[in-house]
Amino acid sequence: MKVGVVKEIKSDEYRVALTPAGARELVQGGHDVIVETGAGEGSSFPDDAYRSVGARLASVDEVWRDAELLLKVKEPLPDEYPRLRDGLVLFTYLHLAASDELTRALAESGAACVAYETVETDNGALPLLAPMSEIAGRLAAQAGAYFLEKPLGGRGLLLSGVPGVAPGRVLVIGGGIVGYNAAIIALGFGANVTILERSVDRMRHLDEILSGRVSLVMSSSLQIEESVAEADVVIGAVLIPGAVAPKLVTREMVAQMKDGAVLADVAIDQGGCAETSRPTTHSEPVYVVDGVTHYCVANMPGAVPITSTKALTNVTLPYVEAIADHGLAEAVARDPALARGVNVLDGKVTYEAVADAHGLDFYPLEDVLPLSPV
Ligand SMILES: NC(=O)c1ccc[n+]([C@@H]2O[C@H](COP(=O)([O-])OP(=O)(O)OC[C@H]3O[C@@H](n4cnc5c(N)ncnc54)[C@H](O)[C@@H]3O)[C@@H](O)[C@H]2O)c1
Repeated sequence: MKVGVVKEIKSDEYRVALTPAGARELVQGGHDVIVETGAGEGSSFPDDAYRSVGARLASVDEVWRDAELLLKVKEPLPDEYPRLRDGLVLFTYLHLAASDELTRALAESGAACVAYETVETDNGALPLLAPMSEIAGRLAAQAGAYFLEKPLGGRGLLLSGVPGVAPGRVLVIGGGIVGYNAAIIALGFGANVTILERSVDRMRHLDEILSGRVSLVMSSSLQIEESVAEADVVIGAVLIPGAVAPKLVTREMVAQMKDGAVLADVAIDQGGCAETSRPTTHSEPVYVVDGVTHYCVANMPGAVPITSTKALTNVTLPYVEAIADHGLAEAVARDPALARGVNVLDGKVTYEAVADAHGLDFYPLEDVLPLSPV
């Protein structure tokens, strides 16, 4: 199959959908890999790194024209809509429930559109989202430690403390992938870490893997109120699948926080879990409300494209290889997780939540693309 990789054109997006290592696997598998000139630069992969593993470097027009399977990181932007066409398989993050315009553009194009974020295993795990949550959680702890520094508007506290001076307190609300990763970095700093969770099973698991090094406490509004007031860094890491984030930290709770404390609301991409949170960017990551520094960057992994690109392609490559080796129809017949990733096919919306979000008709995938058992 001809597999194309284009340079991302969304502002502040430095990731690329395929590493040279991934390109080599595909070339060794007998596929043609066509990479847009300069596509890997933002992630420190020069054109030569792709050329040397057998990929062809080409202009953006050529990649879109020649590719049968097009790999991207972010959703197509309006400038790219005219490039979508019947017969093309597009594999990327799409987040279609958030955009009526994009959903209609994809449907009108006739392209088969597979979304990273809805590839879902039988046990409900989202393997192509997990690495970004791991990165965001780790970065959140780092950002918390950094913005506690006095010249940056923080309390002027070293999170680790030193012998003779107590460490700072980190409160993580939500002990999922983001929360666990935030906690292990905060523990690495030597901070005193508490995780508030509402799933007892998840807390049992965290207790096992963290060997009792964090306090695990049932999340309730009273507990949140008390813990937030004591914390130097609060990390918002809750998720209710398919819903906007619950506003667990109220404006009054923020007002009770220590002066110069940091609130890193990772859940900001779902609206944020504090009433005072609003999305920020890497160029202006923080703002202050009631003396509390708010860090609410909506695309945190974008700050570390080398790591993010490698982590993303580690998990996408097996699916890319499956589509390239077998074609989309057979690949989804073989793998229900990949089948759940198909959002738009032959002009029809095949993912129910996306159809519901935009008042469009929903077509079960098996009606559009008969999934004969292999
Ligand atoms: N800003 C970014 O760049 C970025 C990057 C990746 C993920 N995220 C966001 O981070 C959030 C967390 O993602 P995740 O992958 O860790 O999700 P996850 O599903 O792995 O974890 C969420 C956890 O929140 C817990 N939870 C739900 N309600 C709670 C409550 N009231 N109190 C305490 N805990 C509660 C759940 O039990 C679950 O363990 C999501 O909103 C996700 O979109 C943001």
